[in-house]
Amino acid sequence: MNETLRLAIQKSGRLSEDSLTLIKECGIDFNKSDNKLTSKAFNFPIEFLFLRDDDIPGYVEDAVADLGIVGENVLAEKGKEAEIVEKLGFSKCRLSIAVPKDFHYTGIQSLAGKNIATSYPKILGKFLTENKVHAEIHEISGSVEIAPNIGLAEGICDLVSSGSTLISNGLKEVETILHSQALLIANKHISPAKRELVDQLLFRIKSVQRAKNTKYILLNAPSASVDTIIRLLPGVKSPSVMPLAEEGWVSLHSVVKENEFWSIVEKLKAAGAEGILVMPIEKIVI
Ligand code: PRP
Ligand code: ZN
Repeated sequence: MNETLRLAIQKSGRLSEDSLTLIKECGIDFNKSDNKLTSKAFNFPIEFLFLRDDDIPGYVEDAVADLGIVGENVLAEKGKEAEIVEKLGFSKCRLSIAVPKDFHYTGIQSLAGKNIATSYPKILGKFLTENKVHAEIHEISGSVEIAPNIGLAEGICDLVSSGSTLISNGLKEVETILHSQALLIANKHISPAKRELVDQLLFRIKSVQRAKNTKYILLNAPSASVDTIIRLLPGVKSPSVMPLAEEGWVSLHSVVKENEFWSIVEKLKAAGAEGILVMPIEKIVI
């Protein structure tokens, strides 16, 4: 029987755009219209369910969806059973406790007896218990950051990414409870046939991820410098070296980690490299 994977994706919010971009980068084509809750890919056996992110862990646990893309924060809060297949590296944020700017905060016990508003009551409750702090948790489902200003709570526990929401609401971050990013999760009892499809999808995801932090680099160098440059740019297997029309010169092609490029470039120039070109890579398949 031909299996089709069902992947749950956030309908709209901090994860949705990056989730769809990742799927597209994996070469999977589909149409998404705003009012449709499902969509089937044209060129990979996968169907998408567009859902609220809070509901995704439950749907994956119950096998309504085989896979889901969800934040670590939501998975931890919902406490549902799912296998973490891959950390996807986007939607990075943290779940933190924040209090008004003028709150005299000396440590976690400053929260004792206070009222903290959050959409993450389970994670916050566990954190407070572990730190032996007795505080009230006031669960609300959104706009948590305005709670102190309207007298609903003395502190909040919410997601922080750039920190601008806190600043614009006159709040300061005082404790970080967890760091979060997008995860690909799977139902724990997926069939072997579906597991094979998950592996194919994961292979594509990894090829895309590898390419993200890596650039293609081309340069010209004197032949005498080739050994030095190869040590600086070891490449996927090893660099390609081609002779230039000009005697004693070569063109060298390799890959370089984006975050290492600037520390290597001076050494390349010192070794005589010229005309250095750095270009994006779409996928790296190894
Ligand atoms: C979170 C959080 C803040 C904002 C923080 O909301 O509730 O409002 O992001 O981001 P910043 O530090 O970059 O300002 P989210 O976008 O997840 O929407 P939601 O509250 O509706 O889930
Ligand atoms: Zn949300």
